[in-house]
Amino acid sequence: MAKLEDIVSLCKRRGFIFQGSDIYGGMAGTWDFGPLGVMLKKKIMDEWWNYFVDSRNNIYGVDAAILMNPRTWQASGHLETFADPLVECKECKSRFRADKIAEGITESVTTEEFLATHTKCPVCGKENWGEIRKFNMMFSTHVGAVLPEDSETNPELAAKNTAYLRPETAQGIFTNYKNVVDTIYPDIPFGIAQVGKAFRNEISPRDFILRDRECSQMEIEYFVRPDAWENEFEKVYKAFDNFLESRMGLDLGNINHLEVAPEDRAHYSKRTVDFMFNYPNGEEELMGLAYRTDFDLQNIQRESGKSMEYRDKNTGETFVPHVIEPSIGVERLFLAVLSTAYTEDEIDGNTRIVLRLPEHLAPYRFCVSPLLKNRPELVEKAKEVYNKLREKYTYVTWDDSGNIGKRYRKQDEIGTPKCIVIDFDTLEDNAVTIRDRDTTEQTRVNIEKL
Ligand code: GAP
Repeated sequence: MAKLEDIVSLCKRRGFIFQGSDIYGGMAGTWDFGPLGVMLKKKIMDEWWNYFVDSRNNIYGVDAAILMNPRTWQASGHLETFADPLVECKECKSRFRADKIAEGITESVTTEEFLATHTKCPVCGKENWGEIRKFNMMFSTHVGAVLPEDSETNPELAAKNTAYLRPETAQGIFTNYKNVVDTIYPDIPFGIAQVGKAFRNEISPRDFILRDRECSQMEIEYFVRPDAWENEFEKVYKAFDNFLESRMGLDLGNINHLEVAPEDRAHYSKRTVDFMFNYPNGEEELMGLAYRTDFDLQNIQRESGKSMEYRDKNTGETFVPHVIEPSIGVERLFLAVLSTAYTEDEIDGNTRIVLRLPEHLAPYRFCVSPLLKNRPELVEKAKEVYNKLREKYTYVTWDDSGNIGKRYRKQDEIGTPKCIVIDFDTLEDNAVTIRDRDTTEQTRVNIEKL
């Protein structure tokens, strides 16, 4: 498998991903997708939406606001429990997430347990720690006319107007459950899907785009009869394996399906399977599949005073549905796709980098170029071919930079499956050379048959 630094370097060199606010020295945990990155990211998100929403008749989409009434986070438990263990080095004042710098401890580590690991400070090398404190990862802001000094002079006003950037898209789904039921009244089981930004003030963002402070999630809350959850869980489980393999080109051999132990599960979950992907820097959670019971709907019912019950159209029974939640981060899926596709091989004694992306994910499907860019007759013919292909396909690019060998190298690096070259023979026989990304084989095809 590729090294992470090779992928980071390719991403920057070819315009997939840049450090956020790079020009001002960057901002940790934020990343900007460049022209090629946006194309790949959008295709990944579109595939997900197509597979789970458009091609099913019982999953509906929503696009909820990022800023939500703070009662949302009270009811969901995020204000109380969405916190990581923070520890500060008393020598150099550096702060860390305790469970990430010490071996063999979990997020619920106590100060005593942490001290017993005799971890040295990764910055100054000393062992002089403060207490473990719970650090809530939600970003807060003020909504409305609140001045910075109000926090000191009018704390009541500041507190009343405090809002949070959503740390998961899921709550925008749960708070719309009743709207969807009241307007569509779908048969159960049914799902509500959302793709969008989520924000987490991670103590230690790391591993390129794997742990970000701003990320995108693709989530489904799948509402089922309470007695049907086990069966439905298995179906969703299989559907995700199938999606990751057939649509994303991932090798299931690179995914470890981890049955999460009760003491390590999120507070709302009665069963969780983490899909751990074998990334270049080691195993990390690609996605989670959780059985959230009726935890969220019961909380919303209590907090809002509104009934979350569903009435079964066939039996007339009423109950609060239970929920299966598959949740996947776009950036983590993006890196899984890239690290699967990234390959180095030998062509004519030279090493080349090639992104063997599935054709439907490649940013461009075709690249058209004239053999020589200083020969107007070749350029004109190549433009004709390019325009003809553009009429039919969206993802066609033009490249007349450098020599043909360099163009092939560049297109290989960005994963373009086919390069079409117009040469002097084209002017005679109206045929072009098509060069295959993976085999590098070249075939002649008549323009009419392209
Ligand atoms: N609604 C459930 C939920 O948010 P989670 O395990 O906290 O569960 C789900 O997050 C997925 O979101 C993860 O499996 C991962 O793919 C992605 N994710 C979470 N935090 C992330 C971060 N800081 N950076 C990038 N992706 C993240």
